[in-house]
Amino acid sequence: MNITVFGTGYVGLVAGACLAEVGHQVTCMDINPERIQQLERGENPIFEPGLSAILQQNRAAGRLRFTTHTAEAVASGDILFIAVGTPPDEDGTADLRYVLNVARSIGEHMQGYKLIVDKSTVPVGTAEKVTATVTEALRLRGVEHPFDVCSNPEFMKEGAAIEDFTRGARIIVGTENEQVKSLMRECYAPYNRNHDKLMFMSVRAAELTKYAANAMLATKISFMNEIACLAERLEVDIEDVRRGIGSDPRIGYHFIYPGCGYGGSCFPKDVKALEQTARQLGYEPALLGAVEAVNTRQKQTLFTKLSEQLGDLHGKTIAVWGLAFKPDTDDMREAPSRTLMEALWQAGARVQAFDPEAMSECRRLYGERDDLMLAGDRIQAVKGADALVICTEWKMFRSVDFNWLAGQLTDKLVVDGRNLYRPEALSNAGLRYVGVGRSNLAMAQ
Ligand SMILES: NC(=O)c1ccc[n+]([C@@H]2O[C@H](COP(=O)([O-])OP(=O)(O)OC[C@H]3O[C@@H](n4cnc5c(N)ncnc54)[C@H](O)[C@@H]3O)[C@@H](O)[C@H]2O)c1
Repeated sequence: MNITVFGTGYVGLVAGACLAEVGHQVTCMDINPERIQQLERGENPIFEPGLSAILQQNRAAGRLRFTTHTAEAVASGDILFIAVGTPPDEDGTADLRYVLNVARSIGEHMQGYKLIVDKSTVPVGTAEKVTATVTEALRLRGVEHPFDVCSNPEFMKEGAAIEDFTRGARIIVGTENEQVKSLMRECYAPYNRNHDKLMFMSVRAAELTKYAANAMLATKISFMNEIACLAERLEVDIEDVRRGIGSDPRIGYHFIYPGCGYGGSCFPKDVKALEQTARQLGYEPALLGAVEAVNTRQKQTLFTKLSEQLGDLHGKTIAVWGLAFKPDTDDMREAPSRTLMEALWQAGARVQAFDPEAMSECRRLYGERDDLMLAGDRIQAVKGADALVICTEWKMFRSVDFNWLAGQLTDKLVVDGRNLYRPEALSNAGLRYVGVGRSNLAMAQ
């Protein structure tokens, strides 16, 4: 099939590459010329495990090409995926500007039938807005061309996006049109072989399903963080509680890890957007508001814990391991590390930071500053620091020689925002350990 994907961010690029991989002819379009030039040179602008190889192979095989030209992008696809960003507006509502710009461009350039697929995360009712925008653009041209719009929300996780796209649990398509169902079935057929993962439903149900999924996962995280706050005050180790409740199959182990809060480009904005949708409907979403409030507070917990242990942080040097909002990505959007570093700078502290993939993103975000040292590796980050904070649970941070670490840190303090370590192991090496939801009072020396 001939497919065009608008937007070459995490979702668009992975979707485009994976669709080319199974033999479709794919054009990826972006309005960012630098990004397209990079892709045309064979460079991958984002870090996503496994993506570079797929991009390279399919470009070489002539199944994947990149363009900034809208007319060419519209002409070369029979199915047009919209995978552009939907950032939050000032009040948290999803900003549909980019989605509707693509819809307008499609209406301005289409010459025959097109199936338009909303892959971006968009509020209920967006497919109707896309339809209206395309119709209006066609009207202004004084032409009539048939088209359909369906919803196909994306459930991939950064860091495992290829795996999720190719072997995900479900492929949701919002449409009640039989021709659209058959086109989408054909498009996804190579990824739908073992058992039928395609779920057809109404467009509005598909749009809501995406928000409901992210809001549910965010709720699990905030719930666990709330229990962690209680555990700290009750001198209980939350890790015991996590194991205790996770073993119940009705609860399960996924997404109940306490930590320094969720970040990234999806959960924070999607929870806020769903809240706004509810308010626009005259319904006060008490639970969603609480999920968001707990997370905002939790993202401040690392700074609070450092202050409790060290007092005034002015003049202190804090090593930070992990900048990305989660492992296996270079994405720092809404990352807890940012909340921590910004609070530390505000307090007059210096930061020595290291992340295996997000160093250039950190440089892009914060530039050169005297109170930030971007370390070449995790060892350099702790040299001469007073304390160490773990913000992201990268595998490489799991195994540490704590005796060596104790020799590096002046205040001998480790704040473990992801509960990576056994507190006893640090105590034995003469380190003070503060985790999240762990009985810190008993463990602090
Ligand atoms: N990142 C994720 O893990 C993830 C997972 C599931 C769903 N989503 C959703 O998918 C959508 C895209 O997310 P992302 O993280 O890939 O975004 P992103 O910000 O990484 O990329 C968006 C891209 O769209 C491009 N763009 C903007 N306007 C355009 C236009 N008119 N034509 C062509 N390209 C245009 C931008 O230049 C940018 O490269 C969002 O709605 C997001 O909520 C994201």
